[in-house]
Amino acid sequence: MYIKGLATNKRCLKVIEQRQGLIESIREKFVHVETCPFEGDRIFFENAGGSLRLKSVVETSALYASYPDNQGRENDASKSLVKSIEDGKAKMRLFFNAHRGDVIVGESGTELLFRLIRTAALELPEGGAMLSSTLEHPASMSAMKKWAKNTQRNHIIVEHNDDSGSVDEQAYIKKLTSDVRVVSIVHTSPVTGMTIDLEKITKEVRNVAPDCIIIVDGIQHSSHGAIDVQKYDIDGYVVSPYKMFSRHGYGVAWASDRLCTLNKEQLADGPFQNWELGTRDAGSYATFSDVVDYLDWLGSNFTESENTRERLEASSIAIKSHEKELVDLVINGAEDIVGLSNNKKIRIIGNPASTSREGVVSFFHKNKSSRTIVEELRQRKIRVHIRKDDHYCGNILRPLNQKDCIRFSICHYNSKAEVVEFMKAINEISAN
Ligand SMILES: Cc1ncc(COP(=O)(O)O)c(C=O)c1O
Repeated sequence: MYIKGLATNKRCLKVIEQRQGLIESIREKFVHVETCPFEGDRIFFENAGGSLRLKSVVETSALYASYPDNQGRENDASKSLVKSIEDGKAKMRLFFNAHRGDVIVGESGTELLFRLIRTAALELPEGGAMLSSTLEHPASMSAMKKWAKNTQRNHIIVEHNDDSGSVDEQAYIKKLTSDVRVVSIVHTSPVTGMTIDLEKITKEVRNVAPDCIIIVDGIQHSSHGAIDVQKYDIDGYVVSPYKMFSRHGYGVAWASDRLCTLNKEQLADGPFQNWELGTRDAGSYATFSDVVDYLDWLGSNFTESENTRERLEASSIAIKSHEKELVDLVINGAEDIVGLSNNKKIRIIGNPASTSREGVVSFFHKNKSSRTIVEELRQRKIRVHIRKDDHYCGNILRPLNQKDCIRFSICHYNSKAEVVEFMKAINEISAN
């Protein structure tokens, strides 16, 4: 039941809902789990748009917003703020498994992707190419496009596979050239829900262009599985805390030693190592600590390890196995309820049988508009989101000749009972 040596003993993990009282304890730690403060009762399946917030994050945010003091002063308030920043940074390192490099707080995930990509493009030797894939969110794609143009480099595009809803190392191998200087990669697509094999892809990238800078968008992946920058052989990894149980208002990134040594935008004559611009918000570091503490607590239900990183990894294994159960249920159904893949009027985006899906099932109805379905679900107190062929999702929907789709997205605090409610509702709606 417990995980002792994590690496060897993953099999014995019992999924979250089979453990007495655990799903209830998890849900107890979040706000607005069953009720929207604006619309009343609802089941929340809009997690890819932003996760539920931890109660601890809400309390910490209010507390830090109340402090008038600034950092770098000789008083206890100021020292306490600096300590929160240092503690936050230490927990960010644990979260990313980063023994080297630096952890950075920025305005948002998009801003950090732009900043890391811009820094690499402006500071690396002239010439060569930059390489992205069509699976990427416009945050990294737009930054790569702009900075390839501004630094007069070729922008190479790797095509994702419409049937699988993903991209693999073979697609990269076809497009890689030895003069590639910057590569952007999305860890998990927020539209198809597919996670890519980061280790395999970066290995192939490094085989062809060993010195390139690799920046990873982990914004959709971060709430669904562990991050281990030690393993990936990359230079930057970006997450958005509002997608992983914290709040809006900041983004967090890890940058490799190599990326950190490049010139960056900063105050003239200020410390060279600083990435942050202006006074730091201690509350963002403190709320990130809350997230890591929460995952640590979750992991401690599955391992007796004294090591925090091992407890974080245990939480990730638990999250993955619980989410897999929910995703399998919604796609394949159960004895007494039809799943999305068996509903002839519905088409799922990406391979329904894939084991790489992380928390997202996007689909469309062959006769009914996505807008109508989202509204009919809303009337049944179930919140999902429409995704359209626009600058956010056109990369996935346009090749399918699809104007829009419905995105159902879960996190580990969702229960089987909630998923069954959704399934009953969608089967009823699609039959009418
Ligand atoms: C994969 C991915 N990248 C980037 C973004 C943009 O993140 P942010 O809103 O924090 O800038 C999102 C948001 O949905 C996303 O899912």
